Amino acid sequence: MDWRPSQQHYLQRINQLLDHHIQSLPEHAPELKQAMAYGLLMGGKRIRPFLIYAIGEACQADINDLDVCAAAIECIHAYSLIHDDLPAMDDDDLRRGHPTCHIAFNEATAILAGDALQTLAFEILTQQPLSASAEPQRLALITELAKAAGYQGMCGGQAMDLASTDKQITIEQLRELHHKKTGALIKAALNMAALVTNQPLAQQKIIAEYADAIGLAFQVQDDILDVVADTETLGKPQGSDQLANKSTYPSLLGLQNARNEALSLYNQALQALHALPYNTQLLQSFTAYIIQRDH
Ligand code: IPE
Ligand code: IPE
Ligand code: MG
Ligand code: MG
Ligand code: MG
Repeated sequence: MDWRPSQQHYLQRINQLLDHHIQSLPEHAPELKQAMAYGLLMGGKRIRPFLIYAIGEACQADINDLDVCAAAIECIHAYSLIHDDLPAMDDDDLRRGHPTCHIAFNEATAILAGDALQTLAFEILTQQPLSASAEPQRLALITELAKAAGYQGMCGGQAMDLASTDKQITIEQLRELHHKKTGALIKAALNMAALVTNQPLAQQKIIAEYADAIGLAFQVQDDILDVVADTETLGKPQGSDQLANKSTYPSLLGLQNARNEALSLYNQALQALHALPYNTQLLQSFTAYIIQRDH
């Protein structure tokens, strides 16, 4: 099975939905609104929404419940990228094949666009209607996303990333950093899908195991691509990690060991999927893509 037709389908769905959320905003700060649209809508593989839809599809979920989770998580992800590229962080000038938000607009507007996308995520999650079976999970969904985005997740991981720049850290520290800065949001996507589909605790646990494996694998491959890909394919500057002297899997372990690690995480992820009592072919195909992708 090939996950890509399904990815295209859900990508169009989430893009329309995100566009609608942005267009519904009033016009009192047009430049900020444009910067939010720029950071949210100009490309992106939408893999976090895809994961939500893929789990939902396997469990016959209400698609509107999945939309709410997918839109919220992608707003957080877009904000994290806008801030990640800022001069005070990775100082990158290319994202998704376009000038980064602070280059296309200015730094203040990019900071505010990130801030406003973050709060938009929670506006969506608190305000959009959910089905009767998912409604009792609303507070758990909000908690899941807040924890994954904040100190215990992405922001904490980003701080560890900055603190480990120009420094030697252990592989255990790097693993924790990657789990937080990238794994946490990927895991939140899957956990939120498990919550709105009301999966039994045992299955939630398996989904969390799958999430841990692919969340880390996704960032290991991101680190590998920084070394082996080219800027045009990546849509972001190749060699950015090396230039900034970041702690990454290839810098700590070497390229071949980093690839071996990605492969071993892939196998762990597949094992978890096999333990789920429904059709996971779509997720299996997506899992292979994570470590084979070229951008
Ligand atoms: C890039 O994420 C940043 C990481 C967390 C590794 P993606 O590779 O999902 O970026 P887009 O959304 O497709 O541009
Ligand atoms: C980013 O990690 C993780 C985020 C929380 C945005 P990177 O700094 O490696 O992501 P890219 O390579 O710029 O997309
Ligand atoms: Mg970074
Ligand atoms: Mg970066
Ligand atoms: Mg990177």
